Amino acid sequence: MRIIITKDYDELSKKAAEIIIGVVKNKPNAVLGLATGTTPLGLYGELKVDRDKNGTDYSKVRAVNLDEYAGLGADNKNSYAYFMRENLFNGLNIDLKNTYIENGAAADGAAECKRYDALLESLPRDIQLLGIGSNGHIAFNEPGTPFGATTHTVELAASTVKDNSRLFDSIDDVPRKAYTMGLKSIMRSRSILVLATGANKAEAVKNLVNGEITENVPASVLQLHPDCTLICDSAAAALL
Ligand code: F6R
Repeated sequence: MRIIITKDYDELSKKAAEIIIGVVKNKPNAVLGLATGTTPLGLYGELKVDRDKNGTDYSKVRAVNLDEYAGLGADNKNSYAYFMRENLFNGLNIDLKNTYIENGAAADGAAECKRYDALLESLPRDIQLLGIGSNGHIAFNEPGTPFGATTHTVELAASTVKDNSRLFDSIDDVPRKAYTMGLKSIMRSRSILVLATGANKAEAVKNLVNGEITENVPASVLQLHPDCTLICDSAAAALL
């Protein structure tokens, strides 16, 4: 694993943007695996600034997202589909038809997971962006998820519901279930870029880099990926 430690979040976001922009320039029809959460917001801001300034072209880029809350349709302002349009896609010249995410409003969850797996098979990712949960989760693969998991429905851990409640009016509004790309599907991306910021991620980062490879720490599986880069700021790197 390549590890880049930055002095702060701003530098982390700029370094991550350089990597993503490099992938798109190198391959105009690249498939980007994207993430939601607060960690990539700085990166997404940098990508939009670069698009405005330098005209980096996303017209042929395809984007697949990691996860979506079950029960929230794409127009719900707390859905990840909405988050991606607001925070990234609307600021790029990406064709929304080339952006993919699980359908949170699907009536049949099992069928939706199957549909998404078939889609992932047809769209091998050039790079997969990841944040990391304070409990070591990646996407919504909570501790204990088998490394062989493909897209599935998850009950969110209490700590994840609490962490994510800051983005909702009340903790009671946070969905308790979500669809998530599985660890096996994440590992199939050609390359992986993990971002971590802040002291509350330091323990998870330590376990990701130096911990035992165990299903109790889903992110530890990334130690087995041949092309994984971690960028973390000094606070998140404090225990390395
Ligand atoms: C988001 C996702 C999650 C987050 C993680 C960190 O699509 O899959 O695993 O990356 O929960 O969230 P933040 O960035 O909000 O700390």
